[in-house]
This record gives sequence, structure tokens and C-alpha cells, in this order.
Amino acid sequence: METLDLSGYRHIVFFTGAGMSAESGVPTYRGKGGTRGSYSIGEYACQEAFERVPEKVLGFHEKRRRFVLDCEPHEGHRVIAGMADAAVVTQNIDGMHQRAGSRNVIELHGSLWRLRCDACGFRKEDYGGTYETLQCGCGAWLRPGITWFGDVLDASVMNRAAEVISSCDLFVGIGTSGVVWPAAGFPAFAHESGAYCIEINPEPSGAASYDRVIEGTAGEVLPQLFGGR
Ligand code: OAD
Repeated sequence: METLDLSGYRHIVFFTGAGMSAESGVPTYRGKGGTRGSYSIGEYACQEAFERVPEKVLGFHEKRRRFVLDCEPHEGHRVIAGMADAAVVTQNIDGMHQRAGSRNVIELHGSLWRLRCDACGFRKEDYGGTYETLQCGCGAWLRPGITWFGDVLDASVMNRAAEVISSCDLFVGIGTSGVVWPAAGFPAFAHESGAYCIEINPEPSGAASYDRVIEGTAGEVLPQLFGGR
């Protein structure tokens, strides 16, 4: 595959989903080996469950953190991180882009490495396998800073994503099935905003907005397409 000539592009956005981390060993949600259906959302991944038994929900998320800590970013993450001026808009909560060195990462669905207190507004970053503390200084339980089923997305995060997508001229969608909204609308939004849109996926999403579709994995395609930068 030929290396892409980037001389005509000034603002690049990488839009990533679970497939981006698949070669790091983090399972996707849907498809073969996907985690969907492997745990009960009602027991572990919604606000009601957290309010009912916070320790159980926090314990489940600690396990997810430990699993992800045993995984490493791959060459594809590093290629993206090497393009320091590009923005990353990700649906992933695993923090792999940042671990690879990306700095401008917009996390649409939050992060496994953040906690927040809904009682007093306190926010905390915490990167260990085990949470440093489960409770806020105000006495309330700290809640994982991720988007659970039934949650509303953070409007300021969505606005930042919309801003970088509307002004990009190259949009690269990687490893997303494109079925979860509002993120599913981003390729069309980028296309309508005038960006050239590329999809990288071994099983392409079928989204009509992509100008070029590359059937392959993130770890294989990214170094070839953007290699040597
Ligand atoms: P999915 O699990 O729905 O889709 C994963 C995509 O990655 C599929 O299109 C696969 O073909 C592709 N894929 C698999 N291996 C790949 C590889 N090595 N390289 C590139 N692509 C690969 O994941 P998402 O689209 O990210 O939301 O799911 C979106 C949202 O659904 C998640 O953020 C999560 C979930 O509900 C929340 O938790 C709010």
C-alpha cells in the first residue's frame, strides 16, 4: 500500500472505536470475541446499578482497569501519536491513545481512568489497577467517569469533537461498527464539512460517507498508510 501524501491536508482527525484496540488485546463490543452480552449492563454498567450497590460496580470497573493495564498500545496507536498535530476522537475508554503518546484526545464515552463525584462535582484521575479511594472527601461514592447505558453524553466533549471534525480536511475512521449514536454520525458530518474520509476496518462498516475504504486492521494499515512519520 502506498504511503498517503499528506501535503494537501492541514487538519487531520482520527476517529477510533473498539477495533483500534483489538490488536492490543482489548476485546471489541460487537462481533467475534466481543464483550456485549458477557456481563449484565443492569448489574454493572448503569447508574441504577451504581446507586444500588456501588462497591460491586466499582469492583467490576477495577477488573476492567487491570485487564487493560496488562495490554499495550500497538504500532497503529504509535503512528497516530507520532502525528502530533492530529486530533483523536475516540469512543474508547481504555486510554491506549494517551499511553502511546497522543495528547489531543477527545474521549466521547469518558475514561476508565477518571472518577467523579456527582454529589459535589469533584473529579479525579486515577491510573492504578486498584482505585486509590472509592469515596469522595464529601462522603459520597466516586463514580467511574465513563458513559453507561442510559447516560447523557457530556455536551462540552461533544462540542469539542464537533469543532475538530467540522474543521478537518482528512478524517480517518478506524475500528468502529458505526452503530452507536451520536458518534455514528461523525463520518457523514466530516464528509459534509468537506473532509476526505478514509475507513480502516477488516469488516468495513458500510457507512456511505467514506471516500476510501481499506479492508485491514489498524495495526497493519496505519504504519503502511502513514508510515515513517
Ligand atoms: P464495536 O465493537 O461495535 O465494533 C468494533 C469494530 O472494530 C468492528 O467494525 C470490527 O470490524 C472492527 N475491528 C475489529 N478488529 C479490528 C482491527 N484489528 N482493526 C480495525 N478494526 C477492527 O465497537 P465500537 O464501534 O467502538 O459505547 O462501539 C461503539 C460503542 O458501542 C462503544 O464505545 C460502547 C458500545 O456500546 C459505550 O459504552 C457508550
